[in-house]
Amino acid sequence: MNKEKDVVDISDIPAAEPHDPNVVLIFDTTLRDGEQSPGATLTPEEKLEIAYQLSRLGVDIIEAGFPAASPGDLAAVRRIAETVGREPRPGKDGRLRPPPVIAGLARATKSDIDKAWEAVQPALRPRIHTFIATSDIHIQHKLRMTREAVIERTREMVAYAKQYCDDVEFSPEDAGRSDPEFLVQVLAAAIEAGATTLNIPDTVGYTLPEEFGNLIRFLRENTPGGDRVIWSVHCHDDLGLATANTLAGLQAGARQAEVTINGIGERAGNTALEEVVMALWVRKSYFGLDTNILTQEIYRTSEMVSRYTGMVIQPNKAIVGANAFAHEAGIHQDGMLKHKRTYEIMDAETIGLHHSRLVLGKHSGRHAFRVKLEEMGYHLSPEELEEAFRRFKELADKKKTVTEADLEALVADQIYQPPETWVIEAVQVQSGNNLIPTAVVRLRNASSDEVFTEAGFGTGPVDAIYQGINRIVQIPNRLIEFSLKAVTEGLDAQADVTLRIEAEVPASPGPNDQAPRRQIFVGRGLDTDIVVASAKAYIQALNRLLATRTAEESTIEVK
Ligand code: KIV
Ligand code: ZN
Repeated sequence: MNKEKDVVDISDIPAAEPHDPNVVLIFDTTLRDGEQSPGATLTPEEKLEIAYQLSRLGVDIIEAGFPAASPGDLAAVRRIAETVGREPRPGKDGRLRPPPVIAGLARATKSDIDKAWEAVQPALRPRIHTFIATSDIHIQHKLRMTREAVIERTREMVAYAKQYCDDVEFSPEDAGRSDPEFLVQVLAAAIEAGATTLNIPDTVGYTLPEEFGNLIRFLRENTPGGDRVIWSVHCHDDLGLATANTLAGLQAGARQAEVTINGIGERAGNTALEEVVMALWVRKSYFGLDTNILTQEIYRTSEMVSRYTGMVIQPNKAIVGANAFAHEAGIHQDGMLKHKRTYEIMDAETIGLHHSRLVLGKHSGRHAFRVKLEEMGYHLSPEELEEAFRRFKELADKKKTVTEADLEALVADQIYQPPETWVIEAVQVQSGNNLIPTAVVRLRNASSDEVFTEAGFGTGPVDAIYQGINRIVQIPNRLIEFSLKAVTEGLDAQADVTLRIEAEVPASPGPNDQAPRRQIFVGRGLDTDIVVASAKAYIQALNRLLATRTAEESTIEVK
């Protein structure tokens, strides 16, 4: 996809943005903490696409990864720093803003900090984010250090990061369960050593809103030098309180919120970006705070992240769930018809959701199609446009009305594909009661161009297809999750299948990790026929698996 690469002289763009105290900086960690969700592993290309979209959404800081985790992570962060981290983007007022700050996470060790710097250095605005645990349970059982040693390590490692980079963020991990008086000592050391942002994580989602707000207030008021830094909050959702805690932290004076799209992340996840941003937007008169987020990009970003990570959004999820703007009860519908605000506190359009809008029909031409996609923010190359137009015509033949949601899904399905090893040529199924579901599958191997045909039997039509595919592809794997939803309403709606498979991949090169490991791969497929959508989803997951294997094998060979 073309990324609006109007050639702009970056020396014209200010390298920093003055911070308005009434603006909350949005630090997005979808690509780091979010990617730690089980099974949410992203390819480098997917990370880059998401980073571009986050920049377009207007986030102030992108935490692009944890470079010390693997050479692949380091390379992915560096690529984001070299590209997204050097491209200005339009702000809320339509004028160009500097690119987002690109942050890399590092434990408080020299080698992690070296790697983080190597990765973020090319960005116009790089940041090193270093952390060490401060709760007694972590200090004693995980770090096996003393409190004094933690203070010393903080001072040394923040100073070490500072010699590379002006912008250093420090986090006392598990701050929510740490002794506040001890936190003051650690944070004071971090400020003395040069930290510019102090982030307070509720790592295990333990605190309650009032308690967390009080902690932020206490730390701000008692930490020497606290008035010289930006205070940040980072909450996990183990008790379903991440958004409430984040808002309490902002009310107590924090001016950076660490969030992820759709709230994905470790265990129960992180604070959802869309929830914090829209709470500040809807209740602006209460909070008196603003963000730099272009809210109309929220829905698209949410869909993209869900599609790439395979983390399906629950229908009743606040802001971006399928039911968030749906009204079922008659009394609600009646109220809505009389006055929209009776049951809706914000318009769907504010988050960029244009669900029911009929956009194009069977007779729409190429020009109207291109203009519509551009309006929706997609800038396709001529070849991509041609392919998208072909798919659109195919869809318009099968489906009476083509909405923006259909177009979003169609383009996303076309663009966000892993490298194709296997291509579906045809699938055919016979199923019903009193007969054994039987499928015939024809696949083409994209590298050899050979075509293979196999039959499969199963407990149902989808199982039969997967058996047929397995006979051709021959990669042992286990289907661990399968879900099906309709893109729009109606019997002719497109089916959107998401699934996860688990399979073995070779070990990453490294001294301690030589055994093959099991990894989860996501596949998504779209079609008006649910059986075809299911086949597409499975093939996508297998192609992803094969792409990962090839990448890992070539890294091992290079070593
Ligand atoms: O939850 C946490 O403590 C973190 C830190 C690394 C900031 O993610
Ligand atoms: Zn976290």
